[in-house]
Amino acid sequence: MALFSILFYSACSKKDAVVPAPAPPATTILKDKAAFGIGAAVKSALLQGTYQTTVLTYFSQITAEYEMKMQTIWSGENNYNWSYADALVNFATTNGLNVHGHTLLWYQSFPAWFTNANYDSAAFESKVKVYIDAVVSRYRGKLKSWDVANEIFNDDGTLRSVNCPVYKTFKDPIAFYGRCFQYVRNADPDAKLFYNDYDVVIASSKRYSIKQMVSRFKNVGYPIDGLGEQFHYSINTDKTSIKSGLNDMATTGLLIHVSELDLKVNVTQSNTYVFSATDQQLQADAYQYIVETFEGLPTNQKFAITTWGVSDKYSWLTAGNAIEYPLLFDINFNKKPAYDGFLKGLK
Ligand code: G3I
Repeated sequence: MALFSILFYSACSKKDAVVPAPAPPATTILKDKAAFGIGAAVKSALLQGTYQTTVLTYFSQITAEYEMKMQTIWSGENNYNWSYADALVNFATTNGLNVHGHTLLWYQSFPAWFTNANYDSAAFESKVKVYIDAVVSRYRGKLKSWDVANEIFNDDGTLRSVNCPVYKTFKDPIAFYGRCFQYVRNADPDAKLFYNDYDVVIASSKRYSIKQMVSRFKNVGYPIDGLGEQFHYSINTDKTSIKSGLNDMATTGLLIHVSELDLKVNVTQSNTYVFSATDQQLQADAYQYIVETFEGLPTNQKFAITTWGVSDKYSWLTAGNAIEYPLLFDINFNKKPAYDGFLKGLK
């Protein structure tokens, strides 16, 4: 009897032994590993085939590369071309992607019919308010965030004046921008409102002016929720500046968006440049460093990291046949070492 009991017990115990399930493979999908938005700038005309599947597989949010800019939408004072922006927002809504609106006010994107009108400040502002109300209310509930203003400062911290309609029209441009942030808040109380610019981590004077504007907005009561740093850099960009600059931006307490990330490798812009294995690894290391540095920010301030494009084939940096390889996917949409570097940087 005893032998039978022993054999029966051991059989049961073997059958009932809890064998731990194998740990799921660590995810290699950026949007699944990240605890914040993983974005890509997209062109609506390209959203098909491998381009589309790459966006849907790896990214959780998208930014319109040009479809949601003033010159694309606002074709006349009472004429709006919604087709491009609608196509992109509909794609995102259908596929469960967030949309980051880019950008309501950018000196490069005021349409010619508007700038040629030479409106006085009152007319300028009243017409811009009508535009903001029309665009922001149209996409209310479909967009989670907006770049309200883009690139209003020079790297030396002065207000951009050259070719800037706002600077030309207003004695106090910052007050105008502040009122526009309020117009956007009124049109969509739920959207997060960003100021976006480039060279913020490497141009301390520009960063100081941005922080001064944030303080002024807070003191006056103009709403602002976040700061975007475009991050159009290279494998040679100083890592100490990246870390100190990004952490300095975070001292505002605002959401931080690495909003247009791409990393040049052909730093001499040589027309015989070859993307060597060494440079591929340098690019991977640089992406990893930027993502690790972003991960070091306070959790509640990490909004998203957005790459400015999906594949090297369609980057703004390769327009005009320039030789460059700035993004995470190559011209055939294969993951590059840069993708692996980005993934390793995520916690
Ligand atoms: O306008 C045509 C449109 O009619 C046509 O149907 C469409 C078809 O593809 O192309 C449009 O052409 C160009 C568009 O890019 C799409 O390639 C526009 O003429 C051209 O001006 C536009 O350039 C964009 C540029 O901003 C100006 O809006 C770039 O793609 C985009 O990468 C660039 O992005 C900027 C950010 O907004 C701000 N930070 C710097 C960054 C790079 O310059």
